[in-house]
Amino acid sequence: MNLDFSQIVPYIPFILEGIWVTLKFVIVAIIFGFVFGSILALLKISHIKPLNWFADAYTSIFRGTPLILQLMIIYFAIPQLTGYDISPFLSAILAFGLNSSAYISEIIRAGIQAVDKGQVEAAQALGIPYRLMMKDLIFPQALKNILPALMNEFITLTKESAIVSTIGYLDLMRRAQVVGADTYRNFEPLIFVGLIYWVMVMGLTLIGKRVERKLKYSD
Ligand code: ARG
Repeated sequence: MNLDFSQIVPYIPFILEGIWVTLKFVIVAIIFGFVFGSILALLKISHIKPLNWFADAYTSIFRGTPLILQLMIIYFAIPQLTGYDISPFLSAILAFGLNSSAYISEIIRAGIQAVDKGQVEAAQALGIPYRLMMKDLIFPQALKNILPALMNEFITLTKESAIVSTIGYLDLMRRAQVVGADTYRNFEPLIFVGLIYWVMVMGLTLIGKRVERKLKYSD
């Protein structure tokens, strides 16, 4: 068997730097996706038809085409159109944030609609304004129910982040490829970053479980 991890030891700091490089844009994209996804969910449940159409069309486009294609359009095609050279970092945030909004909006919409109708009726009977009802009553209850689905989305984004290696962003995945090309050994660096992704996802899973337990406790 041809396996020698000692060869990649000098590259370990270089690979480990990739953890933050990857996390940096995943975290921003998740926040972006959550905020924009929440807005889209509100548009979807609104009674104004054009807003529904817009949100539905948005989801249809961003969920109906590959994420890697969206990333490449933002990175390669937008500069051709606008003359503005966009950095891989910004492209990654945009592509992942916009894509995730489509998925998150569906998760949140389902969560809001699953909240008992009596809650809305009670709020209306008490004369609570729509904005406050959503913010203080419906949204917090919805959030509790959709936490596992949201966690799933965050895990998906963390792993899908590897496709930014295709636009030259020096994330974990790209670093494994660079080390592979440098040492003529691909197995070791790939296994090493595979382990790092796995640990990152396990970390997310743990955080999700803990938050879920806390929310349950508050019941
Ligand atoms: N590989 C899938 C695609 O290209 C993943 C999309 C991202 N998924 C997500 N839940 N944000 O369409």
